[in-house]
Amino acid sequence: MNSYFKEMVLDIINNRRSVMAFNAEPLDTEDLKVMFQAATLAPSAYNDQPWMFFVANRNSTGFADVFQTLAPANREWAKNAGALVVTAARINLSLNGEPNYHALHDLGASTANLLLQAQAMGYVTHVMGGFDHIAIRETLYIDEAFALGSIIAIGKSGDIEQLTPQQKHRQLSPRVRKSLSDVVKML
Ligand SMILES: Cc1cc2nc3c(=O)[nH]c(=O)nc-3n(C[C@H](O)[C@H](O)[C@H](O)COP(=O)(O)O)c2cc1C
Repeated sequence: MNSYFKEMVLDIINNRRSVMAFNAEPLDTEDLKVMFQAATLAPSAYNDQPWMFFVANRNSTGFADVFQTLAPANREWAKNAGALVVTAARINLSLNGEPNYHALHDLGASTANLLLQAQAMGYVTHVMGGFDHIAIRETLYIDEAFALGSIIAIGKSGDIEQLTPQQKHRQLSPRVRKSLSDVVKML
């Protein structure tokens, strides 16, 4: 296969990492729109598209509300994010109201699209599971029809010197992965 096509997506995947140094600028709303177009083009079971994204751009009042729900360790660096995006998945199928076993699977697929589109457009991202689920449900009026996914920090890269030594070490360390032989079984 032509190496250009082999590498163009892999390059974006390789260059993505969970960044902690953001530059504290709100996101361009047109850029956000493109990222969500990518997210919503993900595959989903029965094409149910169970995902929901609650977007708090830095210049919105929602930013502080979402920020307050983050775990203290995440607040330390996410304070400079350009936007915080809360993700959730509808747990029953729109089609027939039956439980959708794949709801969180499909939310994850759309999140991956979002992260990679953001990366390709020169943004950096960091997914967080460390947040207060009860508080975010209350803040955004998210009822039990939805399972919570994550909160994603998106923004432009900031000065690494703003980070603590531990954060800096984490952001600069090589990304560690299990070997392919541990996770891929060829049949
Ligand atoms: C669902 C999920 C929850 C995560 N929660 C946190 C978190 O609360 N705080 C944090 O600093 N990183 C969090 N991460 C980031 C992971 O630690 C990171 O993705 C992993 O170490 C791999 O590093 P990489 O994203 O740079 O490749 C989370 C990632 C995912 C996908």
